[in-house]
Amino acid sequence: MAKTESVRASLDKQPHEVASMFDGVARRYDLTNTVISAGQDRYWRWATRQAIDPRPGERVLDLAAGTGVSTVELGKSGAWCVAADFSQGMLAAGRSRRVPMVAGDAMALPFADNSFDAVTISFGLRNVADIDLGLREMLRVAKPGGRLVVCEFSTPVVPVFRTIYLEYLMKALPRVAQAVSSNPDAYVYLAESIRAWPNQRQLARHIADAGWSNVKWRNLTAGVVALHRGCKLG
Ligand SMILES: C[S@@+](CC[C@H](N)C(=O)[O-])C[C@H]1O[C@@H](n2cnc3c(N)ncnc32)[C@H](O)[C@@H]1O
Repeated sequence: MAKTESVRASLDKQPHEVASMFDGVARRYDLTNTVISAGQDRYWRWATRQAIDPRPGERVLDLAAGTGVSTVELGKSGAWCVAADFSQGMLAAGRSRRVPMVAGDAMALPFADNSFDAVTISFGLRNVADIDLGLREMLRVAKPGGRLVVCEFSTPVVPVFRTIYLEYLMKALPRVAQAVSSNPDAYVYLAESIRAWPNQRQLARHIADAGWSNVKWRNLTAGVVALHRGCKLG
C-alpha cells in the first residue's frame, strides 16, 4: 500500500495547508467518509440533491466537490453539474467519474457572473479560509433567482446526543480514521473544525450577510448535519 505523508491543516485554514491535507486524504476519501459516518453520507447527499432540486437543462456548480462524489449524486437529476475544487489530488482521485471537473479556489471562482442556476457546497465551506468571501463568490456566479444549498456538519440539537457525538468526534473518530484513511491526521482536523464551526443560526447569519435571501435551514441526523438554503434575488 502506498504511504502518504501525514498532513493536517491548522484551524486558521491556510489554503495551501488545506489543499495539501486533502491531497493526502484523496486516495481513500470516499471509503473513509462512509465508514466514519456509518453510511449516513449517502443519505446526506441524497437530501442535498432533494434540497437543490436540479432540473434537466440547468447548470449547477458543486463547489469544493473533491473527488466528485457529491457531483455524481447531483447529476442523477439530469442537470449539467460541474465539480470545482482546489485540491489537485482530490480531483485526480475522482478522475474516473464522468463529471466535468475544474480546478479553482472558492474565494476566487474561475466562472463568470450569473452563470449557474444553483450553487452548492457539501462539507466544503468549513474548510474555506474566508467563508464570507466564499459565500459572496457563490452569489456572484449564481444567476438572478439562483439557489444556494450548503450541506455542512452542524450542532446536534438534542443535548444528550450532542454530548455523545462530541465524545465520538474527539476520541473514537481519529481511531477509526487511523484504520481506514490514507491521512488519519486530517481527521483530527475534521473533529476540531466541526467543534469550532458556527451553529445553524450563526451560519444562516453569515449566508444572509453575504447577500443571499430567504435563508432557511433544515437539520439532518438530529443536527449532525444541516442543510442551509438561500436564493439570489432576481
Ligand atoms: C470534505 S471535502 C468535501 C468533498 C465533497 N464535496 C463531498 O461531499 O464529499 C472538502 C473539499 O473542500 C475543498 N476545499 C477547501 N477549501 C477550498 C477552497 N478554498 N477552494 C476550493 N476547494 C476547497 C478541499 O480541497 C476538499 O476537496
